[in-house]
Amino acid sequence: MGPIGIFDSGFGGLSIFREIHHLLPQYDYVFLGDNGRAPYGDRSFQEVFDFTNQAVRRLFDMGCPLVILACNTASAKALRNIQQNELPHMDDPTRRVLGVIRPTVERVSNLTYSGHIGLVATRATVSSQSYDMELAKQQAGQFPIILTSRACPKWVPLIESGQLNSPELYREVKADLSVLLEADPEIDTIILGCTHYPLITSLIQQVLQELDHPEIILMPQGTPVSYSLKDYLLRHPEMECRLTKNAQTRYYTTGDVEQFEQLATLFLGHTEHIRAEAVTW
Ligand code: DGL
Repeated sequence: MGPIGIFDSGFGGLSIFREIHHLLPQYDYVFLGDNGRAPYGDRSFQEVFDFTNQAVRRLFDMGCPLVILACNTASAKALRNIQQNELPHMDDPTRRVLGVIRPTVERVSNLTYSGHIGLVATRATVSSQSYDMELAKQQAGQFPIILTSRACPKWVPLIESGQLNSPELYREVKADLSVLLEADPEIDTIILGCTHYPLITSLIQQVLQELDHPEIILMPQGTPVSYSLKDYLLRHPEMECRLTKNAQTRYYTTGDVEQFEQLATLFLGHTEHIRAEAVTW
């Protein structure tokens, strides 16, 4: 028995963890941020796979029977490979790894009225075409979904370094959203397809106002991922009974512990200062 593992390349996974913890507070969690090697978004397929696989194994070693990849880049580039080729050969093949893309896609097709969806994400996620492929499966019986994607490689490095209110981030967000909305002005829903982006929701909303698109619905992933996890645990009692329930969370980072503690406390909106521990590979 053990906690649920939550993994991200850095701080972004906290936006998913916040919602999971809110919905399922009874469980124990281990959050692991690979801040020391973030961002993953411009890394090669092999690197993202190797780093993610290493993190998943570390969370298994820490006793987690279930790991959530709270990262689109890792979900897009490594999840299937880990599920199909790594898990069956591990000493305990009953452990499980889940991602964030499918729960998001299942929800977004119910949100859009026009069928025109925008995606902002890392370069790795956009180039993987994971959203295009998953959304294509949602089309049956509905109006066709038209997805327009924009890779935003500058956003994550600025968020990771804590520059959330910087003029540089504002300029980048405005430039990328302008290009996205010029490519398809009929977009009514934008998927925040990187778990770092909900950390700058108010900036994105401000820019959409300035671009005369205040009506656009932003789709962060915390809610669909947490409800999908709840549903998964209801459908899989053999996994649910392996999860410890003491409402405890431990935080680990491969980056600077003090910076992690400060930003994690801010992002999670905690009144108490979060304590984290260092992890090395
Ligand atoms: N937060 C991650 C995602 O959802 C990765 C960002 C990065 O490391 O570039 O894609």
